[in-house]
Amino acid sequence: MVPQNNSGPAGLTQYVESCLASELDTNGESTYNNAFKVSLSANYLDITCSRPGTFVLDSLLYKKIEKILTADLFPYITILPSSGMHIVDTNSGDISTARALRFYFKKGVAKRLCFEKLSNCKVISQNNKVYIPLMENYLIDVTDGLPHIALSGMTGSGKTICALVLLQFISQIGNITVIDPKGDPYLMHWANSLGIPYFTPGNKQSDTAFMDLIQRELKKSLDFIQSRQRVLQENPNYKFDPYVLYIDEAMALTVSLPKKIRDSYLGLIDKICLMGRQTNVCLFIASQTFEANTVISSSARDQMGLKILLTPNVNRENCRYLFKELANPESIVIPDDGFSHGKGIIQNTKDGLTLPFLVPQIKDLGGFNNEQQNI
Ligand SMILES: Nc1ncnc2c1ncn2[C@@H]1O[C@H](COP(=O)(O)OP(=O)(O)OP(=O)(O)O)[C@@H](O)[C@H]1O
Ligand SMILES: [Mg+2]
Repeated sequence: MVPQNNSGPAGLTQYVESCLASELDTNGESTYNNAFKVSLSANYLDITCSRPGTFVLDSLLYKKIEKILTADLFPYITILPSSGMHIVDTNSGDISTARALRFYFKKGVAKRLCFEKLSNCKVISQNNKVYIPLMENYLIDVTDGLPHIALSGMTGSGKTICALVLLQFISQIGNITVIDPKGDPYLMHWANSLGIPYFTPGNKQSDTAFMDLIQRELKKSLDFIQSRQRVLQENPNYKFDPYVLYIDEAMALTVSLPKKIRDSYLGLIDKICLMGRQTNVCLFIASQTFEANTVISSSARDQMGLKILLTPNVNRENCRYLFKELANPESIVIPDDGFSHGKGIIQNTKDGLTLPFLVPQIKDLGGFNNEQQNI
């Protein structure tokens, strides 16, 4: 831990140099004093390694340094998980120090927001911009439209409540339709209390009959996209309010369907994904898995602009569908704040940054007295 009097920029660079000198161990070589020079900027840290050296500048070294920094700088700094070695020109004018390994960071650690009840989740409108606050110092800018959203996690990880929080924010700026194959009581109660169209299988309704209903809803969304496209042809700058189609536990929708029906469903989802962004029609899908062609195709998966994985332990296995580009998932540290649900990682493709994520906590989940209904 960085001692209090040592946490300024000078103390921090010295601390990082000492950590690397003593902890980085390649082939028994342990003396790296003077081999590393650390420099600190507002949101990144550069490590210049003098060449020639006793170790190779490669992705393995980058990974090791990322791991050391992530743990040793917690909770002062959060090193942002990388998708591979990031090397920059130092402009030093000396070939032996002309390159540095760069590590992006955010100050502090992820801090969870806490709301007494769901209806207290309010979007922030500021200087003609609209933001959804998801953590302390972490806002999603939705001024120019909503992204498609993919939310993944094991059963009980907090997907549906995370979705409810996001939907509660979205309900203040646009319209929503909810498809809920499992009939989650919170989701049902919330949608009904706001008069939001809500679809769940009826008593004795077969999977195929329910899917038929859902496909009709998806086709309606496509017609809606096309009607908005016609508006855009007249006025290319027209701004639409968001329309979000939310599917909870999407796997339950497709798992037992014949391939032909599933393929036709996946085709509709693909079309909405591809055509929806321009017209602010968004898909929001929660599922335990995002394996290709189970709940969405791999091309639809690549269109997801906001990705969330809920798990207390991030690893290569649970990252393989939504976060496959992460080079070092095991080294991500998610702060333990004493609340066991709704923790994981989040990525907004607008800035490309992946961060540890703590879903806002709702203290009283029973209180859906949405008195503010300003949809
Ligand atoms: N952000 C949160 N605030 C308050 N309580 C939460 C939160 N997240 C989860 N919980 C609690 O954990 C329970 C399980 O969460 P949730 O139903 O969202 O999990 P899930 O991933 O959707 O599980 P399943 O796969 O069974 O649908 C909730 O009923 C609630 O009691
Ligand atoms: Mg759920």
